Amino acid sequence: MKLKDFAIERYFAKYEFSAKYMMSSSDCDGFGMDEVLSLASASEKKDWEELKLGYTETRGSVPLRKAIQKHYQNIELDEIIVTSPGEANFVLMNVLLSKGDEVVCMAPMYQSLYQIAKDIGCQLTLWEPIEENGAWDYAIDQLNRLITKKTKLLIVNFPHNPTGYSPSKEGQLEIIKLCRKNDVYIFSDEMYRFLDHTQGAHLPSMCDVYEKSISLWGTSKTFGLAGVRIGWITSKDRGLLQKIENFKDYLSICSSAPSEILATIALNNLDYFLQRNLEKIRHNIELFKIFQKKHKALFDFQAPPTSSTAFVRFHLESSTAEFAENLVKETGIMLLPSEAFEYGTKHARIGFGRENFPEVLAGLEQFLKENNY
Ligand SMILES: Cc1ncc(COP(=O)(O)O)c(C=O)c1O
Repeated sequence: MKLKDFAIERYFAKYEFSAKYMMSSSDCDGFGMDEVLSLASASEKKDWEELKLGYTETRGSVPLRKAIQKHYQNIELDEIIVTSPGEANFVLMNVLLSKGDEVVCMAPMYQSLYQIAKDIGCQLTLWEPIEENGAWDYAIDQLNRLITKKTKLLIVNFPHNPTGYSPSKEGQLEIIKLCRKNDVYIFSDEMYRFLDHTQGAHLPSMCDVYEKSISLWGTSKTFGLAGVRIGWITSKDRGLLQKIENFKDYLSICSSAPSEILATIALNNLDYFLQRNLEKIRHNIELFKIFQKKHKALFDFQAPPTSSTAFVRFHLESSTAEFAENLVKETGIMLLPSEAFEYGTKHARIGFGRENFPEVLAGLEQFLKENNY
C-alpha cells in the first residue's frame, strides 16, 4: 500500500521546530521529566531506578496496563494493547479493513483516521459537520443516512480535533444504537479524553459501552506528554486484539521501556495533569473570546465544549493558507490552515494548550494592525 503524504504532519514538520510560536498545537505544553518522576510511588520509583533497557511485553508492561485499566469500567488486562497512537491506528485499519469495504468517517479529521482506509481501497463516506456562527455540530440523522448494512466501520473522534465537538451521552448512545442495528464496528479515537472544560460529565469510553468497538487513547493530549509516545487500544474483541498484536511484530514489536514507566506514573496521577491542562485551556479560551470580539469581522468563534482546539472560520479574500504563510513569515507565529485538513480554504485550527498563548495573541494583534485587517 502506498500512503498519501500526511498534510498536517508535513505542515508541522516545516514549522514546529523553526517557527517561534505555535498557535495551532493540539497538545498542551510538555511536562518536564523531573516533574513526572516526582509523582512516582515508591514501587514506580524503584522500577525506574532499577530499569533494564531490554525489550518489554508486546502488549505493554503489566503495571502500565493496570494503570490504564483503572480508567475504564469494564476492560480486562488482556483487552489492552500498548503502541504509539499512530501505530495503533495504522495497525487497526490494516487488520480490520480490506479493499472495497465501506467506511464512514467524521470530517474534518486527523488525516490518518481516514487516509489509511482510503489507501487500502475502502469506499469512504464523510460525516460532515453543521457549522453555525462558529459553533459545530454533527447530526445523527445525517449519520443515519450514511450508515447501512454494508458499512463495515464508523470512525469517530470525541473530543474532536479540530472542532472541539463532543456529543452528549445520549448522542453517543444513539450512535451506538445505529451501529448495533447495522452490525458496524466503531473505531473511537479518544486521544483528547477528559479534556472537557465545560461539560460536567465525561463521555464513557466507547469500548466500555459498545461491544463491537475499539477505543484509542494515549498520553499526548490529555496529559501533555506527547514525547512519551505511548498510546493504547482497548476493545472487548479479543480476536481482533490478537491480530493487532501479531501485526505489531512487524513494526515496533514493543514500546520504549522508560516511556512505559513514565506513562504508568502519569496514568496513576491523571488528575494532576488534567487540572493543569484544563486550567490553561480555559484561560486561553477566555482570552481568545475577548480577542475575537475585537475582530468579529475577521473570523467567527464560539468556545468549543471540549478538547484543546477550536476550528475557526476566517472571512478573508485570500485562502487561510496564504494568510498563515504571511503570518509565519512576518511574526514567527504558526497557524494551521484548513487546507492541511483537506477541508476547504476558509478555516484554521487554534490550540489552547500553550502557556505563551497571550504572547501569540499580542503578535497576531500587531500583525493585523500592520496589515490593515
Ligand atoms: C485525533 C488524533 N488522533 C491521533 C493522534 C496521534 O497522536 P500522537 O501524535 O500522539 O501519535 C492525534 C495527534 O494529533 C490526533 O489529533
